[in-house]
Amino acid sequence: MHNGKARAFTNIALIKYWGKKDQQLILPMNNSLSLTLDAFYTETSVSFSKDYSHDTFYLDDQLQNEKATQKISHFLDLARKQAGVFEHAIVRSQNFVPTAAGLASSASGLAALAGACNVALGLNLTTKNLSRLARRGSGSACRSVYGGFVEWEKGNSDQTSYASPVASHHWEDDLAMIFILINDKTKDVSSRNGMQRTVDTSLYYNDWLKAANIDIEKARTAIANQDFQALGEVTEANCLKMHATTLAANPPFTYWTPDSLKAMNKVQAMRQAGQNCYFTMDAGPNVKILCQKKDSETIYRELQKDFPSHQLIMAHAGKGIETLEMEV
Ligand code: PMV
Repeated sequence: MHNGKARAFTNIALIKYWGKKDQQLILPMNNSLSLTLDAFYTETSVSFSKDYSHDTFYLDDQLQNEKATQKISHFLDLARKQAGVFEHAIVRSQNFVPTAAGLASSASGLAALAGACNVALGLNLTTKNLSRLARRGSGSACRSVYGGFVEWEKGNSDQTSYASPVASHHWEDDLAMIFILINDKTKDVSSRNGMQRTVDTSLYYNDWLKAANIDIEKARTAIANQDFQALGEVTEANCLKMHATTLAANPPFTYWTPDSLKAMNKVQAMRQAGQNCYFTMDAGPNVKILCQKKDSETIYRELQKDFPSHQLIMAHAGKGIETLEMEV
């Protein structure tokens, strides 16, 4: 029996990863830059044993169906191959989210699984190589290996595509991110399908790539200068450019719902009223607001006027991946 357990926190991209140049290896078309957060995380344990005849996957104590298990098995195969261990496994994953809001996170989930496999199979990976392994599970997971600000260097091969911390003198500790959870009644387009469709068909995709390269430079400079306004402006603008690509895809689609727009308008209105806050959105309707910790309580209270408290989650900068003891 080989056991391992790890905890990984989620991360939110300020400069988005949007599009793959290699589907198999999960090599992105552009560099991305994220902030790892403390508000929700995944703990995953894995036990490999020659006594198991197949892989089994429990998420939040629920046995998962074949499709979900296959995705996990595919990832386990990569780890098994690296270790030269070919035993089946039981994977138990627990998502810790403040409210039951459908905020499942592939970033924290796949990073935690990579961390658990690293321990269980005695892979002894450096953080860089752990980031490379996590990337194969879900692109954004490669950034959850580190805390604080993280940049994923796109690279051009399995070896050269991985995340690293962005030097910030702990400036991230002065920041906060408030999640506005928005109910989505529309049909989901997964990030995987959404980004592929835009790469293949969006008229704006090439312009997105040009812009992303400029935006990431601006974000790096803003972090180096601890310039909140510059970081906020480029974060919001980059998110809008990413979402613009979906409208020019074929068939066109959007992740925005009327409530997402309500939240975005609220942020812009707060800004006009003098609050220092900016939004970002991923492949779903939720809106995340970047602000400084010193302003976060005021901004939270202002948001409570328009959104019920159970839809609001306050987050701060989080840590990198951690190894945990297995309970026996
Ligand atoms: O890692 P994935 O395949 O879930 O893709 C994440 C894509 C975005 O969340 C939209 C952007 C990002 O960089 O996290």
